[in-house]
Amino acid sequence: MPEFKASPPPAARPFELPVSALFGDRHIDAEHQVLVDILNGTIADFGSSGRLPSTRFAHDVAHLLDHLKQHFDHEEQLMTAARYPGLATHRAHHGCVLAKVSALRMEALQQTEIDKEPVFDLFDQVLDDLLRADLPFKAFLDANGLTGKA
Ligand SMILES: [Fe+2]
Ligand SMILES: [Fe+2]
Repeated sequence: MPEFKASPPPAARPFELPVSALFGDRHIDAEHQVLVDILNGTIADFGSSGRLPSTRFAHDVAHLLDHLKQHFDHEEQLMTAARYPGLATHRAHHGCVLAKVSALRMEALQQTEIDKEPVFDLFDQVLDDLLRADLPFKAFLDANGLTGKA
């Protein structure tokens, strides 16, 4: 008789990397997945109380910022190598995302505890925004036969 393993409840992994956002470049896809995992890990840290000490939250967000910076640097290197014409605009977008997440961390440190709901909403926006912004680069790579080669 086949053994079925129960899937974790959806609430355990609220964010996912949609198939439509896959690049076909294993490094970029892996980096996006790591970012999704960090967002999920931060949300999981809130636990059932829905509240998290701000110092712990700020630590999680610093970890997220480190990975965002690494990923954005890598992506910009690929864009440069591929002579992507949207590089300057995309670099500015990366800067906006970093500023938004940095501001969240600084605001959190002004408080004692953080509520999960506004963080969840902001993470949802940030993830959607950063994946959506990458789509023109993916289309450029596809159109120029560079997918997986950049
Ligand atoms: Fe990007
Ligand atoms: Fe990206």
